[in-house]
Amino acid sequence: MRHDPLSYLGKELDSLREQKLFRQLRILDDEQRAHTTVDHKSVVNLSSNNYLGLTTHPRLRAAALKAIEDFGVGTGSVRTIAGTMEIHMELERRLAAFKNVEKVVVFQSGFTANAGTVSAVLTKEDVVISDELNHASIIDGCRLSRATIKVFPHKDVEAARRIIAGLPATQRKLLITDGVFSMDGDLGPLPGLCALAEETGCIMMVDDAHASGVFGRNGRGTVDHFEMHGRVDIQVGTLSKAVGALGGYVAGNANLIDFLYHRARPFLFSTSHPPAVVLACIAALDVLMEEPEIIERLWENTRFFKAGLHDLGFDTGLSESPITPVIAGDGARAMLLSDKLFERGVFAQGIAYPTVARDKARVRTIVTATHTREDLQYALDAFAAFGREIGLI
Ligand SMILES: Cc1ncc(COP(=O)(O)O)c(C=O)c1O
Repeated sequence: MRHDPLSYLGKELDSLREQKLFRQLRILDDEQRAHTTVDHKSVVNLSSNNYLGLTTHPRLRAAALKAIEDFGVGTGSVRTIAGTMEIHMELERRLAAFKNVEKVVVFQSGFTANAGTVSAVLTKEDVVISDELNHASIIDGCRLSRATIKVFPHKDVEAARRIIAGLPATQRKLLITDGVFSMDGDLGPLPGLCALAEETGCIMMVDDAHASGVFGRNGRGTVDHFEMHGRVDIQVGTLSKAVGALGGYVAGNANLIDFLYHRARPFLFSTSHPPAVVLACIAALDVLMEEPEIIERLWENTRFFKAGLHDLGFDTGLSESPITPVIAGDGARAMLLSDKLFERGVFAQGIAYPTVARDKARVRTIVTATHTREDLQYALDAFAAFGREIGLI
């Protein structure tokens, strides 16, 4: 019999099992909603990025259905060959107006937007100065670019400054941060980083995946929230989280976007969005502009839930957003808490190393606009019961 050359993967998986870190995928039996059915269990869902409930919003659903009627289900080509429809251009124009920038290019996902952009704009002669907790897609983009990667401690603007001071003044530098950090829910220090980028001539880039639709006027993101318009050269947003569909985009000046049209590899070498996704995203922009009360509900729910966890005595880190981690210590403890919550009908994902530091494993909660107060109180009661049982509070 042929030797399985992949048998070493089995050993890696056994090691995960021993550490109680092996996870089966949870299966959603219903739509992506605040209260839904997962693995045949009715749950309060605190695990999705569906911040505004737009995955099932009637206006997005209707737009997607009509798109299929009018344009079919796929585009059959990459954007640069035959896969650009007028609706793709319309979405980019709408996003550019929304973000108040010259131009926008849409990618298949936020991941490819980050990885494709960083790897396109930098070469191996350049340097990236990157927050230690930046998203994996930024890290992969940095690696693909072959630029030198210099990591600064989380949110530490002065440490970033010291790194830059040690670099040749003529070397091209990209200073990059998440707008909202996905595991901790805290905000990148945009005012300090933008000032540093201006003083030192760095390109300034912000990944606003978790801020899109959540922070700023009508969900324009952290650049709007911090009033940093015109001071961030490259803004990445996602259409996959609060916007409810799928995709990522880069917002900036015309040179940047035209360059990415020519050099960003996921844009050049992967088929464009199906029409249903494109028109759902346009409908989502209409909703952000015309129904801002949904964003207000998200923040009311966020304040209620955060205050509840805080009053119970949980360590919730430094979150400033609807993402609230409940720090549990080691990975096994976080997974135990997550499993117990699930049995009680609360779906909140356990997150462990290597996604977060070994001693900072957590159950991550994300509140949405569509949770009811009863949903959130039910979840808080479950957290209280099991938090006490495993000695977290
Ligand atoms: C900070 C951050 N950036 C980018 C992404 C990627 O976005 P998308 O899901 O659209 O690929 C994510 C999603 O996990 C994220 O958390």
